[in-house]
Amino acid sequence: MPKPIKDVLPYIAYGGDYNPEQWEEETWYRDAELMQKAGVNLVSVAIFSWAVLEVEEDVFQFEWLDKILDILHEHGVGVCLATATASPPAWMTKKYDDIPAVDEKGIPYSFGSRQHYSPSSPSYRKGIKKIVKALAERYKEHPALKMWHINNEYGCHLSECYSSYSLEAFHHWLQEKYKTIEALNKSWGTNFWSQRYNDWAEIDFPVNQATFYNPGQKLDYKRFMNDQIFDLYLIEKNILRDITPEVPVFTNFMYQFKPLDYFQWAKELDVVTWDSYPDPREGIPYRHAFHHDLMRSLRQGQPFLIMEQVTSHVNWRDINLTKPPGTMRLWSYGGVARGADGVMFFQWRQGRAGAEKFHGAMIPHSDNEKSRTFQETAKLGNELKLLDSVRDARVKAKAAILMDWENWWAVELEGKPHNGLSYMETLEAYYKPFFDLNIAVDIVHPAADLSEYSFVVAPMLYALTSAEAEKLENYTAEGGTILFSFFSGIADKHEHIHLGGYPGPLRKLSGIYIDEFVPQSEEGRLTFVKKGRQFSSSIWADVIYPEGAETVAAYETGWLAGIPAVTKNRFGKGTAYYIGTAPEERFLKEFIKEISEENHVIPALKVEDGVEVSEREGEEEKYLFVINHNEYEVNVKLAEGTTYYNMLSKQNISGKEALPAKEVLILSYSK
Ligand code: GLA
Ligand code: GLA
Repeated sequence: MPKPIKDVLPYIAYGGDYNPEQWEEETWYRDAELMQKAGVNLVSVAIFSWAVLEVEEDVFQFEWLDKILDILHEHGVGVCLATATASPPAWMTKKYDDIPAVDEKGIPYSFGSRQHYSPSSPSYRKGIKKIVKALAERYKEHPALKMWHINNEYGCHLSECYSSYSLEAFHHWLQEKYKTIEALNKSWGTNFWSQRYNDWAEIDFPVNQATFYNPGQKLDYKRFMNDQIFDLYLIEKNILRDITPEVPVFTNFMYQFKPLDYFQWAKELDVVTWDSYPDPREGIPYRHAFHHDLMRSLRQGQPFLIMEQVTSHVNWRDINLTKPPGTMRLWSYGGVARGADGVMFFQWRQGRAGAEKFHGAMIPHSDNEKSRTFQETAKLGNELKLLDSVRDARVKAKAAILMDWENWWAVELEGKPHNGLSYMETLEAYYKPFFDLNIAVDIVHPAADLSEYSFVVAPMLYALTSAEAEKLENYTAEGGTILFSFFSGIADKHEHIHLGGYPGPLRKLSGIYIDEFVPQSEEGRLTFVKKGRQFSSSIWADVIYPEGAETVAAYETGWLAGIPAVTKNRFGKGTAYYIGTAPEERFLKEFIKEISEENHVIPALKVEDGVEVSEREGEEEKYLFVINHNEYEVNVKLAEGTTYYNMLSKQNISGKEALPAKEVLILSYSK
């Protein structure tokens, strides 16, 4: 059994990716000293070190890593030891021609960048087993070892492979799934366009075809690749579990990452970690807040770690905006507020050579402790020491947004009534009101237990099984409130339509019947009216016929005039709302506020616009985070009769508190 993270890391984790192999030994000592000054307690080592650890096949060179781990340990810095498998070495790539992944045109990726391996390569699989075993055996007793950092950002650059090895594996995967070719034919609907198969060997990859792909084939390919990459993770995990059963393992997740089903993956991680790189030009990073909430929810509220972020600016956008003074600290607290128990960076020391030398780091090229970057880094690191007690405290949300990777894959496949639909953008549009209103929200899978939630939002839940729909019915019948958006309940997970009128298995629950969709042109704007007030919408309109539901708002535009845009249906002890279009932001905010209030789903504190509030609950105390994103000071009105402890200024406060621009209040109080 791996140790609980709160025991492994008796502090809020603070540090970053550390690549000592890029530096001379004398720098290692300076690094360790600076780490102490900066309050660093954890670094990820050896992520891209395979070539300098296994210098030739079976020839391992661990001495430098031994030394680094010793130095770090002597300086009180723990290590997330990476398994070094994120990029196989040149000798291996040349020696075994199955290593490189193959692109859609059948061309193998060449060596010289990173992550060029095929997840189906037998030689890669053999290779990772050897290096992971060797690392685990060598460092299993090392006191610096805190956690295992498996690989790095699986699938980041390559999440598809079209090699012959992958094809063979795909055939095998399909056989496991369907058992008979008849079952596959049925699932893929192959009587369409003469697509029938007699044998597994006849199946190609869904690439380079003359026109539209078979949706079943395409979906299964996505599932297969997710599983194939997941398999790599499991190979490493199982070896580590065997040799170091108590050491937690994880890999680092990414932002808006469609290829991998993180709900599936998270079950096999001991802690969720992710890499968060908001673009400063986007303003308040609510999309990243959505991801913090998602990462927390992936393991049912267990705190996560921000494994990477940047101090100043990245180098991989066209133009890389710098975070202004104080922003890195403010956004870091935004993560902690939503359940992060660690704030880490890519990377510790800014590189001298290589493709990422202009990527920000905790120590810039100047190596100057007085630099703004290092000053801000050290300030945050030392401040976080005041928050030890926040660790493991939970965000208690009464609202949830449903999210499903299978649905993401299906709803964005080609051939839809509107091919500009974005599942992620829809999720974010429905998330933003919760963020703006400071209402805590979990992001959960449709099959999850929803009984803790008073209000559930299901945006664009296109691919849904009847069993999942039944769970949503039961949830509502028991008193829950649910809100659907257009293009929900349309297909099953094979992407076969639920026949007999939309929204298929949600028809009874929503009390409506939809016979046709009316996608809108890019310029198309609809107007609808709710209680005498007019709102606009775009993208889509469902032609809704109520079957028991009441009309909350109806269109005014053209031939849709009078048709419901928004409906409400009493179902058992609960209520189901349905929005048949993509409304303007103002409407969603008002509507979500109204439904939330009706259900007593309220923010931990009422504050001005531009101020973010999130609360975590420990065993004895609550921790209230108030983050002022505005360029001006605001007044924060605290709950009457409660005395709070300001954890950063170490003073008791009550009543009203002035919160300067770009500042944060972290207040603990008794439950
Ligand atoms: C990713 C990778 C890192 C580094 C950073 C740069 O998160 O995991 O190795 O390339 O991006 O932002
Ligand atoms: C063409 C083809 C049909 C069908 C339609 C769809 O006309 O002949 O098989 O694909 O397009 O519009």
